[in-house]
Amino acid sequence: MIREILTYPDPALKKKSAPVTVINEKTRELVRDMAETMYAAPGVGLAAPQVGILQRVIVIDVSAKDETPELIVAINPVIIHADGESYEEEGCLSVPKYAANVRRHANVVVKALNLEGEEITCRAEGLLAIAFQHEIDHLDGILFVDHISPLKREIFRKKYRRMQEERQEKG
Ligand code: NI
Repeated sequence: MIREILTYPDPALKKKSAPVTVINEKTRELVRDMAETMYAAPGVGLAAPQVGILQRVIVIDVSAKDETPELIVAINPVIIHADGESYEEEGCLSVPKYAANVRRHANVVVKALNLEGEEITCRAEGLLAIAFQHEIDHLDGILFVDHISPLKREIFRKKYRRMQEERQEKG
């Protein structure tokens, strides 16, 4: 089932998500829905708080359109090692119609649980490394716009206020 993606400035996006303590049918349903929602959007990653569930669950698929889909499910993900620097443009399904360059680590090693409750370790670079950092940020209530310079953030806020006003005028 495709779930509604919450968008900025929804307060749920600022909250810290809780670790998953039991992986059960509800978790599996959540992950299925998150993957479906991400692919339909389409996006390369989605975190549970973006669909209003404050649990530490993320899904990522950075495979190109002509490649076989490769879904990564990470429960309670933790970055255990990070190095290098990158400065790439990012967007977010919760921040539509906005993109900005964000400073991140170029390489990360992430430890997490899969849906079977087994511990997995992912070594990631490039787009996948960025996606892990972006999605794990969501679990701590951090959006990519929280990483941009104060000046850019002010421009972003104004743009979003204007978009909201326009929406209100229409609706
Ligand atoms: Ni995002």
